[in-house]
Amino acid sequence: MRRSISSGKDSLFDPAFYGVIKVRVFFLFLLLFSMFITVRLYRASKDILSDTVQVSTEDGFLKLIKIDKSKVKYKTHKKNVHRDVMEFFVPPRVPPQQKVGPSDVEDDSNLSTELPQCRSCFEHKFEYVINNENICDGGNESGVDILILISTTFRNKLKRDAIRETWLSVSQENTQNIRYAFLLGFTPDLHLQQQLELENIEYRDIIQEDFIDSYRNLTHKTVMAFKWATTFCNHSRFFMKTDDDMYVNTRNLLEIVATHNSDLQTSVGGTCMGRGKPHRNQHSKYYASVESYPLQHYPGFCSGTGYITSMNAAVQIYEMSKNIKFFHLEDVYIGLCVWKLGMRFLTIRGFSIEQVKPRDCHYKNSKMVTSHGVPPNLMRGIWKMDCTKHKVTHRSHDDAHIVVPSMT
Ligand SMILES: *[C@@H]1O[C@H](CO)[C@@H](O)[C@H](O)[C@H]1NC(C)=O
Ligand SMILES: *[C@@H]1O[C@H](CO)[C@@H](O)[C@H](O)[C@H]1NC(C)=O
Ligand SMILES: *[C@@H]1O[C@H](CO)[C@@H](O)[C@H](O)[C@H]1NC(C)=O
Ligand SMILES: *[C@@H]1O[C@H](CO)[C@@H](O)[C@H](O)[C@H]1NC(C)=O
Repeated sequence: MRRSISSGKDSLFDPAFYGVIKVRVFFLFLLLFSMFITVRLYRASKDILSDTVQVSTEDGFLKLIKIDKSKVKYKTHKKNVHRDVMEFFVPPRVPPQQKVGPSDVEDDSNLSTELPQCRSCFEHKFEYVINNENICDGGNESGVDILILISTTFRNKLKRDAIRETWLSVSQENTQNIRYAFLLGFTPDLHLQQQLELENIEYRDIIQEDFIDSYRNLTHKTVMAFKWATTFCNHSRFFMKTDDDMYVNTRNLLEIVATHNSDLQTSVGGTCMGRGKPHRNQHSKYYASVESYPLQHYPGFCSGTGYITSMNAAVQIYEMSKNIKFFHLEDVYIGLCVWKLGMRFLTIRGFSIEQVKPRDCHYKNSKMVTSHGVPPNLMRGIWKMDCTKHKVTHRSHDDAHIVVPSMT
């Protein structure tokens, strides 16, 4: 080739010379084109990777979520990427279950401060559809320390599975000092019912009664928990009620019941509030009509996201509930029973009614007892987190204070 270029003017008209040029241009073009494609692909993938993450949602679907770049510092803090993405997985904060706030709309200044007397007006007369009477039986001579009953509903099997695999696995299928069961009401959907029955055959940890399973019926579910504990597990020392979106550190829970054993004989512990006004605004999630609640104040309550009490108190609360009319906010309802019994609330540090950030091994240190709104994937991630290198801190004994129920 070089020969033909250097061989003089004639070579310019040499067809072989043009053939060589064509081949070179073709390859040059091919090279540029492939570089262009490579750059495009690289940029596209970079955008995908840095702007969005794939998240499996609570109901098992995958979705792409955009990341707030200001939160995720890829370049400067490479090591923190995992942590920041974990944080990002956090769903929007769910408000605490029952917040007491100023009332408006209806003027309730003339309402009474006394609960109307009522004898056996609220007997919990529902039939079991599924029951596992033997959950608290057996085990070694040290017996059952805590029975944990968990409000759930039909479509939340993924949440139940995550709980079974993670923090409830310490119960070793209901054979250890911690026992548990999931609580459901009735559904007319035969398919859902069938699935629940299959789930129960596998795990034997379901308790179901025949009241309609709905948000407005949560009080029935909670009273069912107290009734079941009284009837089938009254030799357990303590009783906890919680929900299927909660992460519970059972090691800290055991420590707390040991520390506050005597207070819990006459109180309910968790995150508790004193006297407060019902929401009279119809648009509030916690709306209570004057008809459903004819008093000016609530005496106080512990958040239904998770509370612990002695079995001694739980049995009395169940007995008292027969004399207190149905009210749909279940934690306020239990608060009414506690108040009528002359018992107390005990605010204990660590019962978080919001989501505890999954960083710095918070879930495994001594302070945390409950965390709210923890989706299944996060629950598993936390459970697997290795925190052996974090230094062990111990709870102080002044980590709780009494809240006295009051109507005035
Ligand atoms: C409250 O009671 C007083 C006196 O009985 C009465 O004048 C007033 O209208 C009542 N207020 C309401 C909102 O019912
Ligand atoms: C009984 O069970 C408890 C809790 O599961 C355990 O700590 C204890 O060692 C057991 N006792 C015996 C004698 O196995
Ligand atoms: C609550 O359950 C009862 C008993 O099944 C039923 O009659 C009632 O309609 C339910 N209420 C709601 C709001 O679902
Ligand atoms: C305690 O449980 C036993 C069965 O284990 C039951 O016979 C008894 O009635 C229960 N106590 C109360 C107060 O319900």
